[in-house]
Amino acid sequence: MMKRLILVVFFAGLASAQSTVRSSVREQQALINQYCLGCHNERLKSGGVTLTKLDLDHPSSTAELAEKVIKKVRAGLMPPAGLPRPDEAQMKAFAAGLESEIDDAAAADPNPGRPSLHRLNRFEYANSVRDLLGLEIDPAQFLPVDDSSHRRTFPGSEENPC
Ligand code: HEC
Repeated sequence: MMKRLILVVFFAGLASAQSTVRSSVREQQALINQYCLGCHNERLKSGGVTLTKLDLDHPSSTAELAEKVIKKVRAGLMPPAGLPRPDEAQMKAFAAGLESEIDDAAAADPNPGRPSLHRLNRFEYANSVRDLLGLEIDPAQFLPVDDSSHRRTFPGSEENPC
């Protein structure tokens, strides 16, 4: 019985050690205030970067900047060498917290981009005519041979939009 209990405690410990620690928005803001804003403020804008605009509550609205911050902090490049910096665990938790907030926002509001335009090939054309008009046609009578990318092209008139 005791042995089993020890095992359970042991594995619970392992599991929690493996899950990533993520700092809260408040902790992230405190870290930036203490270690970054001395240089990245509106007046100095070191490296052309001001972190006063980084919206930690909605980091996806300034995602590009947030990504840069994550990269610099993960690589240990910011704060610059020789200056006071948070300990390793704090830096990791900071980057992980910021990253998960961006990822969560992206997952909640995916932007798949615009659908790409696509010309029907012979097979699709025949199917569309059948579906729309109920007619079985032989597309070879109407359309030239599909090229290798399955687009209809007209010999000598590549620009023809038909
Ligand atoms: C002592 C001043 C100083 C402090 C403190 C400092 N930085 Fe910087 N930072 C710079 C300078 C100078 C540059 C431009 C040179 C470079 O990119 O290394 C820079 C560049 C950057 C960049 C721009 C990278 C790019 O790709 O354009 C980011 C992001 C950044 N810092 C984030 C941070 C973060 C986050 C902190 C705090 C954890 C921090 N910095 C603390 C001086 C500082």
